[in-house]
Amino acid sequence: MALAGSQSQELKQRIEDHTSHIGIIGLGYVGLPLALLFSEERFRVTGFDIDEAKVKTLNGGGSYIVRIPPNEIARAQASGFEATSDYDRLREMDVVLICVPTPLNEYHEPDLSYITDTVKALAPRLRAGQLIVLESTTYPGTTDEVVVPLLEQGNSAALRVVRGDTGKGDIYVAFSPEREDPGNDTVARRDIPKVVGGVDPIATELGAALYGSIFNRTVSVSKPAVAEMTKLLENIYRSVNIALVNELKQLCARMEIDIFEVIDAAKTKPFGFQPFYPGPGLGGHCIPIDPFYLSWKAKQFDFRTRFIELAGEINGRMPYYVVDETAAALNERRKPLKGSRVLVLGMAYKRDIDDLRESPSLTIIELLQQRGALVDYNDPFFPSVGRGRHYDLHMRSTSLDKVGEYDCVLIVTDHSSYDYAAIVRDAQLVVDTRNATRGMNSPNIVRC
Ligand SMILES: NC(=O)c1ccc[n+]([C@@H]2O[C@H](COP(=O)([O-])OP(=O)(O)OC[C@H]3O[C@@H](n4cnc5c(N)ncnc54)[C@H](O)[C@@H]3O)[C@@H](O)[C@H]2O)c1
Repeated sequence: MALAGSQSQELKQRIEDHTSHIGIIGLGYVGLPLALLFSEERFRVTGFDIDEAKVKTLNGGGSYIVRIPPNEIARAQASGFEATSDYDRLREMDVVLICVPTPLNEYHEPDLSYITDTVKALAPRLRAGQLIVLESTTYPGTTDEVVVPLLEQGNSAALRVVRGDTGKGDIYVAFSPEREDPGNDTVARRDIPKVVGGVDPIATELGAALYGSIFNRTVSVSKPAVAEMTKLLENIYRSVNIALVNELKQLCARMEIDIFEVIDAAKTKPFGFQPFYPGPGLGGHCIPIDPFYLSWKAKQFDFRTRFIELAGEINGRMPYYVVDETAAALNERRKPLKGSRVLVLGMAYKRDIDDLRESPSLTIIELLQQRGALVDYNDPFFPSVGRGRHYDLHMRSTSLDKVGEYDCVLIVTDHSSYDYAAIVRDAQLVVDTRNATRGMNSPNIVRC
């Protein structure tokens, strides 16, 4: 499609020439890697964050995400990358990407405050001809119903968002979901197709041009709500399938069938089956949270999302199941959970990452403590754990030298740096929620 209007043509040209200035708001697990990808392609990138400590670290050439080494920040700086908390600099940007958090509030409802705060701060600084893209995961309708009105109401220059295919208006707005999978190195970031849906076809085209310069494939959809729903479908699909294997794991345990052996056999089917693996419960900023954005929105349409609720219930019960199984394993050894020393291995929500958000380890430790266990933990990524949105632990990571002194070693996160054979050799009892001890035969191992 040929773009109508010199304003959009000019922006597209600047995107294609890699001369457009990219602003990224929110330099977390999503925003920072994205900033580095654009920098690698010689775009000038300015990152915006309200966290002054992050801004300082980045401008000093450092990194606060383990898998991003400081030399990658230095390389980006050489291409003009800088971080700032000065929102006034948003006026300089040709493109603004919003990558701020979208958690749930205490009532398990969407907390859009990070998005609304960001958009309210952006609106008075808009300039005609800018492309604004929301990347934060959210319910269908957010871009059209929340972002667009706030942008239009909040700017004194009466700038309008371009709607319809007439190309009339001043600002282009789109939604493009982030598909980052931290710790997964099997697919290069560039090979993950990027979905984009604009409020208007021109916004979609500009978005596709932008992402086409860093991703190998872009997928344009008809409107932002389709792109928003795409992201939720992907994450709900994971949540539901993980719940399915978590439930079957419990049945298989009663039937003395190894669920992992079953999954290994099932995945040899060349079509119609994708393997998902059971575990101690869901973690991270996506799978435990995003589905409930849709459940909440569905109520507005008098619709109950039963799969989402059931999957949430089953996955949410898994830490309780793990604690019950740990108590049962100790009981078999004539030990009550109360007073037993338990070493939890792994605090991060999944293998080899430094992300603690919604980690099942946090719930498991709290449940063990409530039942009187004396708990320590080890995690190479977290020397200490203090207080967060849903936890208050104040613990320090302990060494693995005295594994044999614990009544139970509970594997919650299967970091690849652990020597599982040595742990099984030295421990009195190993309760393994991740099949990390696969292939090992020892009466000391209980898999749950
Ligand atoms: N982490 C993932 O693997 C992942 C994957 C796909 C999608 N997402 C989605 O991407 C979004 C961001 O997630 P994340 O993991 O990067 O979060 P994060 O917490 O790691 O990073 C968000 C950053 O935004 C900053 N911030 C908050 N409010 C701000 C404001 N008003 N102005 C400027 N900066 C602000 C925070 O200081 C933080 O640095 C969420 O919607 C999430 O659901 C995350």
